[in-house]
Amino acid sequence: MYFNKIRHPANFVFNTASSSDGRAITLAGKPCGLAIDSLGSDVHRVVLTHSRWAPHGSDAELASEIPGNNCYRLKVDERGDLSVIESATQRVVLRGARQCTFGVSGAAWIMQFHHEPGMQFYGLGEHSKGLEKSGQRVKFWNTDVFGDFSQHEVRHGHANPMYMAMPYVIVKQGNDYIGLLINNPGATFMDLASDFLWDGVNPADRQRQSFYVGAPEGQPELYVIIGPSLAELTRKLQTLVGRVPLPPVWALGYQQCRWGYAGPKDLWALDRNFRKHGIPCDGLWLDIDYMERYKVFTFSEKLWRGRQATQRVLAKLAQRGRRIVPILDPGVGVEKGYHAYDSGLKHGIFCQTPEGEPFVGFVWPGRTHFPDFSLPEGRAWWAEQVKKFAAAGVSGAWLDMNDPSIGSVELDEMRFARGTKPHEAYHNQYALGMAKASRAGFLAAQPDQRPFLLTRSAYLSSSRYSAAWTGDNYSNWHHLQMVIPVSLGLALSGMPFNGPDVGGFIGDTTPELAVAWHKVCFLFPFIRNHSMFNSRRQEPWALGATAQRTISHYIRLRYKLLPYLYQQFVEQEASGAAILRPLFHDFADTEKLPLGKIADQFLIGPDILQAPVIEEKKTSRRVLLPGKARWFSASEGVWRRGGSTITVKTSTGGTPLFVREGALLPMQKGERRDNRNDFATIELHVFLRGDSRGAHRGSYVFDDGESFAYQKGQRSRVEWSCAVATDGALEVTIERFEQGFASLKLCVVAYDAFTSVRFSDRGKSRTLPLGVARETLTGKSLRVGRTSWCSVRA
Ligand code: NOJ
Repeated sequence: MYFNKIRHPANFVFNTASSSDGRAITLAGKPCGLAIDSLGSDVHRVVLTHSRWAPHGSDAELASEIPGNNCYRLKVDERGDLSVIESATQRVVLRGARQCTFGVSGAAWIMQFHHEPGMQFYGLGEHSKGLEKSGQRVKFWNTDVFGDFSQHEVRHGHANPMYMAMPYVIVKQGNDYIGLLINNPGATFMDLASDFLWDGVNPADRQRQSFYVGAPEGQPELYVIIGPSLAELTRKLQTLVGRVPLPPVWALGYQQCRWGYAGPKDLWALDRNFRKHGIPCDGLWLDIDYMERYKVFTFSEKLWRGRQATQRVLAKLAQRGRRIVPILDPGVGVEKGYHAYDSGLKHGIFCQTPEGEPFVGFVWPGRTHFPDFSLPEGRAWWAEQVKKFAAAGVSGAWLDMNDPSIGSVELDEMRFARGTKPHEAYHNQYALGMAKASRAGFLAAQPDQRPFLLTRSAYLSSSRYSAAWTGDNYSNWHHLQMVIPVSLGLALSGMPFNGPDVGGFIGDTTPELAVAWHKVCFLFPFIRNHSMFNSRRQEPWALGATAQRTISHYIRLRYKLLPYLYQQFVEQEASGAAILRPLFHDFADTEKLPLGKIADQFLIGPDILQAPVIEEKKTSRRVLLPGKARWFSASEGVWRRGGSTITVKTSTGGTPLFVREGALLPMQKGERRDNRNDFATIELHVFLRGDSRGAHRGSYVFDDGESFAYQKGQRSRVEWSCAVATDGALEVTIERFEQGFASLKLCVVAYDAFTSVRFSDRGKSRTLPLGVARETLTGKSLRVGRTSWCSVRA
């Protein structure tokens, strides 16, 4: 496998004509079927058919319909070139490369598009090289980065491809956004107008700049999605590949992990420390050492002392609010008498060699077989093992090494579908199959609990089954700087529920670095502190008093803001709206404010903007505040103008964080020192000033946070609005309340010198004085007003 080489158009033959009905093109001198279907909402599918291609066999669960009208159409001209045209204006928004849109070279295919000046590219899933991807060449091939690249490449962030394959690129032309998605679980590639494209060609002859996407084999299937805005594009993509099902609230809490946590002693020590230090934490994670000689679906006899004792420990930890998440590797150790090995062999569900023998790889237990997730019976077998395993009392699973990582053996020998399917035809969706089967196992074991899975590798539609972390990073500043663009890339490419190993995995972190990592990630969709066994300890209390104070503060602040974060997941499930967003997702990218280039700031949902300091020893930074509205600067305690670039100084404890004017943020009450959440008792933080204009609306949804009862209506929903009245009073109005779950208690927190609140609950109005309270969001302790608590009932 050459990681850095991809096919080049110089070796391809292209289309020359199209049939009069547009259903075929002449490609390499022969007719080739062309089908263009619309799924609705400007999501179009382009498929080429010819005997040179076997069906691609994708297991991605792509929606077949996206409700909504089409405003754009795809047209094939008489030369067989494709373009995307806005129907109302006839404007061409994307043009196939002239007389070379479709190219073939044996079973390999490419689709090539005209590269307009100023075009920019985003997405590409998990990709380490910046937010904007112009000029890059990428291969999508799930890779165990740590195992397959040199440490130099990993340390400096040069590894490409990475763990997850999301063959998706966003083409930005002005403020039009078009997504191109390849559905093919084998290797795929893209060249985004790199210099290689014109290598050896006289610059004077380079009139036709282009970019292309393609695959070495498998039927060509490309989805063309027209936003036109980035926010709409992202929602459509997510609806196509699968929105994230609402996770349990505990999965949004803090997660503590380390390669080395193995037995009850480790877990109790963690439980004690989190309690002692008043730091909330939901998940305690077990890495490979909890197993009996690394055998998946076992607990070490020595550490856990049998099934019943294991269940007792897990039940006790659950009573104390700790969720235990063990690692599950797909590799099953070859050992007679070991139940998973015996049963896997008996059911014939392991991947096979071309000679029909169970394929052998080398992972933690030594020789290993691998379940074949391409087989329905392989998935059913795995689900059954997970079901039995989960019944011990674990709350979720961490799916690792599913790239698949098989040790120092060629992947080619690992075949699927009883040896009939070549490895590369299934490779990129191995982790998807594992996640699908694991979720089925959890649902069978705990039918009324929302499952939580974390995966290292992924393919299109993995979002339906698991969150993802970005694999093995280094405890260094360069990796911290990569976190924002990598997570944003994933968020825009169909994997919104993601996050990195916070603190850094490989190597020794420092107090300053660990603090910086928490400041960056404390509101990420997923947050887990994880490190390697031979690195410096980096639990929140392990790096000295100052670091502990700051890290604890941000973990507590995450819990305070959990109701807001939860709303983003509610929205994701309902509409596919992004959670982590680059600035140009919500604000126009202009020449004056070139937001598309900003890779060190981000939004969490629509209202919170972060601009963390990600350089060593820096105590201030420039921050670009987009839009016309003002922003409340939480670290400075002042309002700042939108549409400006400012310099913000930070203290040891602070981080530049801004809340959009007009935001109504639901937060949990007071400082959160444990993980006992109460989403029915809310502080409504109203980010309005005395001179703010207009009514600002919002909604808030809450439920039991763990079961599926919300799907049967057991969910409360409030709609509220806030405005500054002509007499200068702050007005908070409950417009609607549906009490499917519980009533709501709330108090109002204001961010300007209001002295009272006019609180109206569906017609009944009363004026409440705003008492003064102090609030520390980030950095400065602020004087903010607060009313007394009021109840909202059905
Ligand atoms: C590789 C994973 O990426 C890492 O997070 C884990 O700690 C090790 N495997 C050991 O299980």
